[in-house]
Amino acid sequence: MTLQNIIANMLKRKTPDDAVEGASKGGLEKTLGVWDLIILGVGAIIGSGIFAVVGIAAAGSADGASPGAGPALVLSMIVAAIACVFSALCFSEFAAMIPVSGGAYSYTYATLGECAAWLVGWILMLEYVIAFIAVSCAWANYVVQFLKGFGHILPAWIVNPPLWLVSDFRSAVHTLSSQGIDYHSVIPSICGIPFSINLPAILIILFITMTLVKGTKDSTKFAAFMVALKLGIIALFVVTGFFFVEPANWTPFAPNGFSGVFMGAFIIFFAYIGFDALATTAEECKNPQRDLPIGIIGSLVVTTIVYTLVALVLTGMYRTQGNVDQAFLGAPLAFAMGNVLHGWIAKAVPGFMSVGIIAGLTSVLLVMQMAATRILYAMSRDHFLPEVFQKLHPKFNTPHILTWVVCIVSIFGTLTLNLDAAAALCNFGTFTSFIIVCGAILILRKIDPDRPRPFKVPFCPWFPLAGILCCGGLMVFMMATAKGHSAKLSTELFIAWIIMGIMIYAAYGYHKNRKAELEEKNK
Ligand code: ALA
Repeated sequence: MTLQNIIANMLKRKTPDDAVEGASKGGLEKTLGVWDLIILGVGAIIGSGIFAVVGIAAAGSADGASPGAGPALVLSMIVAAIACVFSALCFSEFAAMIPVSGGAYSYTYATLGECAAWLVGWILMLEYVIAFIAVSCAWANYVVQFLKGFGHILPAWIVNPPLWLVSDFRSAVHTLSSQGIDYHSVIPSICGIPFSINLPAILIILFITMTLVKGTKDSTKFAAFMVALKLGIIALFVVTGFFFVEPANWTPFAPNGFSGVFMGAFIIFFAYIGFDALATTAEECKNPQRDLPIGIIGSLVVTTIVYTLVALVLTGMYRTQGNVDQAFLGAPLAFAMGNVLHGWIAKAVPGFMSVGIIAGLTSVLLVMQMAATRILYAMSRDHFLPEVFQKLHPKFNTPHILTWVVCIVSIFGTLTLNLDAAAALCNFGTFTSFIIVCGAILILRKIDPDRPRPFKVPFCPWFPLAGILCCGGLMVFMMATAKGHSAKLSTELFIAWIIMGIMIYAAYGYHKNRKAELEEKNK
């Protein structure tokens, strides 16, 4: 086989018609309507970004590695939303034109060919599985904090669990050493190996897995409940907080100038991740051509409005310039509320808000794992992964083997993960996939201009180009300006992940695809 042949194979496209035909043999149940999609979208987007990360975006990180946006947080929110909206329009055009599970992975296969498609699928795993692991750890932290408020009714081992049961080993060692405690005296060992696990994170991963194995429709009902709860909590925050806004807190408006606003936009971009996950449910939509664009753009619009209101009220209620309380960085909304209220209500309201936050994080987990599974499902159908992964559950018709695989990998992830680096790593993966999707729209318009497009990105090529510029610009800005261990670690891990992906494709995916082609020919 000549090098020319190898390159030709690597560039082989799966046309949109082939993709749709392959998907029609899949057998996933079509149960999702437009409201289900908006619920899933809002469920996936609003989570740890607005409930936790927003504190650092506004006030800067504790180690000073990234400057805060201050009251200009609202501008950071809008910059991040603009970067997303161009990509969302491109996702919508693709989702309506090629309604198959696999999202950006399938779109790349249709435009850039086999090798690029595998790489995009591999990068999307980084986005969804890492986000799943990171949010499950954030969920565990909130639950542990929440239970502490029930000291008078719950047993002591639940209210104050041993550190080695609620933390991964590295974080446990970090916490203990910051208190001057030798970890050997606290963390037990099994056969000489220290034993420390994040049990609440593992339990929520198992719960989400079982919910998803049972079926997408049930999962959507569950997500609807969680979404209603978290939107209710945010409405409570905005309406109550409005009465405590001090306009003086809004000056100076942008204490760190453009660099604060753009760093805030990069950080808060994590809060918008999730609308792209909707595209992966295309095969389960009743009317994907109409509903998916509405679902993707609708959920992004709802989220942007909610985030802008939260940013205005939060920075008006609490002064984010100068020295801020460390507790604000961990749980900004609950802290800001507790700060302006007095008496018993100051304790009750943040506790009540924690319930909504835990619900919010649960729905993010649900959609992230679902998206990861659906992309792997599409990849295994294309011979990049063993065929056994395509098996559907005999009763629930869901890809149960893949769902459990993601579950097991994520449980291992909770044992080792550094959360800061995970969020940055997740942003890198997402920016890359958005840039590729915007580029792929331009390519497909050129090579296949007559294909019916039920939804079209307006002002093409300017909007897709603007998407590439916004996402690429924020990514380069982060790489060029961020200091600190997490930023470096996430850049290195991202490069290592890409190299690993290329090696797996060369050793497995490429050959499996050639074998499948031969079998098809001999039929
Ligand atoms: N957008 C999701 C969140 O903020 C990932 O948790």
